[in-house]
Amino acid sequence: MANSGSGDSMTDRVVRVLETFTPSRSVQTAAQIGRRAGLPPSTAHRLVGELVESGLLERDDDRRIRMGVRLWELATRSSHTLRLREAALPSMGRVQARIGEHTQLAVLEQDEALLLERLSDPDAGSNVIRVAGRLPLHASSSGLVLLAFGDRDVRERILAGPLARTSAETITDPAALRRKLAEVRSLGHAVAPGSIEAVSTGVAVPVRDETGEVVAALSVVLPRRAAVDPALVELRVAARDISRALGHRR
Ligand code: PHB
Repeated sequence: MANSGSGDSMTDRVVRVLETFTPSRSVQTAAQIGRRAGLPPSTAHRLVGELVESGLLERDDDRRIRMGVRLWELATRSSHTLRLREAALPSMGRVQARIGEHTQLAVLEQDEALLLERLSDPDAGSNVIRVAGRLPLHASSSGLVLLAFGDRDVRERILAGPLARTSAETITDPAALRRKLAEVRSLGHAVAPGSIEAVSTGVAVPVRDETGEVVAALSVVLPRRAAVDPALVELRVAARDISRALGHRR
């Protein structure tokens, strides 16, 4: 892709424009997008105009800009995560029916746990994460599973720190994290009480594909006082069924 005068590529600029949208900032003016993306006003207006033209962004009745449904359509329909989501949803529904609270599916993405799907009871307890949100690998139950069973390079990179604290109970000591990951591998699940937020416990298990590789973490987020064992029983059955649906035979 051609470079602009300032050295960043057109792709960089488009990504920066798209990254200005967040759950709490879903509509913006072209000028706000430009400022937040670090683009000169004329460039921002032209680029936003082109993206609206293509449907990747949309203009509402007040001429403010939001993400285009076309972007979701293109990103979703051929995504390899769609297969994973489709394989997981029936089992996630069963876990959710038995345990309530929150049932979630996450994958490793750029050294973080990216949430692909979440089912939540209307009366469920606290949860800091939404679909398409990210959790730190060392602090969340799904992240611990993805780290423990994942690529050695990723594990060593995360262990090299820094290990940011998200609550008083987050593991921030590399040696303690190494011990926790060994425990997760030997138990086959991760329990993270109060690690992301003091009031919740995350419980997660690995999901494997036909090669046996761990491709996702299935988890529940429970109120701190809730029993972990019933959730673990359901999660294990569900992870086995999802792994089978993905072609894993063992
Ligand atoms: C977790 O996966 O450990 C987790 C996720 C979200 C929360 C709490 C815990 O709000």
